[in-house]
Amino acid sequence: MLVAEDIALAFADAGGGSFTALDVARFAPEPGRITAISGPSGSGKSTLLYVLAGLLPPQRGTVRDDAVSIYQLREGRRDAWRRRRIGFIFQDFHLVPELSPLANASLPATFARAGGARQRAAALLGELGVPTARRSIELLSRGERQRVAIARALLFDPPVILADEPSASLDRAAATELTAVLRRLAKDGRTVVLASHDDTLLAAADRHWRLDHGKLRTAA
Ligand SMILES: Nc1ncnc2c1ncn2[C@@H]1O[C@H](COP(=O)(O)OP(=O)(O)O)[C@@H](O)[C@H]1O
Ligand SMILES: [Mg+2]
Repeated sequence: MLVAEDIALAFADAGGGSFTALDVARFAPEPGRITAISGPSGSGKSTLLYVLAGLLPPQRGTVRDDAVSIYQLREGRRDAWRRRRIGFIFQDFHLVPELSPLANASLPATFARAGGARQRAAALLGELGVPTARRSIELLSRGERQRVAIARALLFDPPVILADEPSASLDRAAATELTAVLRRLAKDGRTVVLASHDDTLLAAADRHWRLDHGKLRTAA
């Protein structure tokens, strides 16, 4: 289980000082549940997801994944940990425009020895209803690109899914479809954490936290 404890993270500001972007006593999203984090722009949602993913070391505190304290791992080990344990869906997807849906979804396998990755990517794209015959993801709708990003995040079958405003600029139908996909992932026992302002997504969450200037509060 992924647990963040006693986290403090400050960024430098323009005036030569710093400000606290994250100040979280404990965050332990549960397997099998969708945990949502809402909060205004700049409240620290992306920062929290990056800290959980092992992408951004906090100045204080620990992130543990079962017995592993992830920021004690050397960078290469931490990258390997992330590939195995975390599926990250970035807000702007981080897809490669000139590559096909299949090439995009199997991209993480380029950096890791992983047999059968292309077959698995193809199967995931099929399950998610992405038209794989397109030559480039530039020919896909935004909702379809989103699903390519989800397939890529699921390539190594990680138990934890972190999604940063995954429904941003999706239409209602695509957001509803996305909700169903996230529900299915949680039902399979995965830990799903999403940052979102979207009422459709928030309504599908089992837990809802609000971030306010880097501090977590329970939401009504
Ligand atoms: N690398 C950085 N350097 C300095 N400030 C940053 C950096 N990344 C984010 N911030 C600031 O930290 C705060 C929280 O950012 P972020 O986590 O992206 O918020 P949210 O995702 O809730 O919109 C914002 O004020 C943002 O401008
Ligand atoms: Mg953000």
